[in-house]
Amino acid sequence: MQSVKVPLGNRSYRIGIGRRLLDRVGAECAALQLGHRCAVISDRHVAPRFGKAALRALTRAGFEPFLITVPAGETAKSLKSVQSCYDQLAAHRLERKSFIVALGGGVVGDLAGFVAATYLRGIAFVQVPTTLLAQVDSSVGGKVGVNLKAGKNLVGAFYQPRLVLCDLDTLRTLPEREFRAGLAEVIKYGIIFDAALFNRLERDLHRLLKRNPETLAHIVARCCEIKAEVVGQDETESGLRAILNFGHTIGHALEAISGYGKYLHGEAISIGQVAAAQLSAALLGLPKSDVERITAIFQRAGLPTGVHLQPAQMKRLFAAMQLDKKVSAGELKFVLAKRIGQVEFGHRVPKDLVAATIRMSSPG
Ligand code: NAD
Ligand code: GLY
Repeated sequence: MQSVKVPLGNRSYRIGIGRRLLDRVGAECAALQLGHRCAVISDRHVAPRFGKAALRALTRAGFEPFLITVPAGETAKSLKSVQSCYDQLAAHRLERKSFIVALGGGVVGDLAGFVAATYLRGIAFVQVPTTLLAQVDSSVGGKVGVNLKAGKNLVGAFYQPRLVLCDLDTLRTLPEREFRAGLAEVIKYGIIFDAALFNRLERDLHRLLKRNPETLAHIVARCCEIKAEVVGQDETESGLRAILNFGHTIGHALEAISGYGKYLHGEAISIGQVAAAQLSAALLGLPKSDVERITAIFQRAGLPTGVHLQPAQMKRLFAAMQLDKKVSAGELKFVLAKRIGQVEFGHRVPKDLVAATIRMSSPG
């Protein structure tokens, strides 16, 4: 197992990356000296596949686990699910020293983390992410929360897990579209932080798409290292952490105006990152060849790179961008790239230029 440390003082924790880690979840939790009782929160797609293995491993290590299953998909990230989890935790008499294991993708991780942050004013939790997106991004860094009707992630907390275990074997059953969507976050790390990673992705994308275990191990570990470094420097996003939002201003707005149904998160931020690259060329001098490389790698990953919007949809897109948590005093702020591997955050971008860039991205 490879190990990456998230350095946050007395809240530091380890990310374990490797194969057959589900079988070790009990032993790893025992090493953290967590309380006896625990809840495994999972969803209806993941629980039937991996729930038993997790419960078995926890029981073998002397814990008393029980399973809470929520519906699969974004709708489960709701206050209704939070309430249902609280009720089940209370029925099983979970105590301050008890803990929660989040077994699933980013939806389960965000929901279970929020439940852990708030139940009895906070109990420990462990992330066992089972999607590529969750392994390289959402399980690390402590952003937990749920959605409101008014928008995504509007209720939440910064609450760090005690451990993250990325079992690469769980990715084998991930639907192809979900896997490719996760690649959008992987490519993002190359653009924002690590030109060598970007080069490697260009070279090894075919291996990654085949889910080659060695390639996956290397790439997931490198992405976790980058996220750990960024979060270690700026846990609550007062500055540097904003770079992780490259492509997300347009991406989140696209998700919102299409009712969180048409695009997966990774697909929306793929379009957003290509648009951000175009804006970077116009405003920061990102070389044209870098824009072409960025566009090409998303295309090779089978991800969308443009969108056709009617005027009314464009209006709604801008309204949605104004609601984004990243808006400050009504101004749109973008993360822009100087070159592949180096970005700057907090750039004001004129609305007209954003609209023209999106119009130009239209697939036809
Ligand atoms: P998800 O959790 O909805 O999982 C995608 C789908 O794959 C679901 O249907 C799920 O049941 C299924 N699935 C999960 N693992 C599987 C496996 N191994 N085999 C088969 N099916 C499996 O989606 P996601 O892309 O993992 O996460 C998206 C969520 O993450 C969004 O709500 C987003 O806001 C959040 N997010 C949070 C952060 C953060 O920092 N907290 C960062 C990025 C995204
Ligand atoms: N996914 C963005 C962040 O963790 O800050």
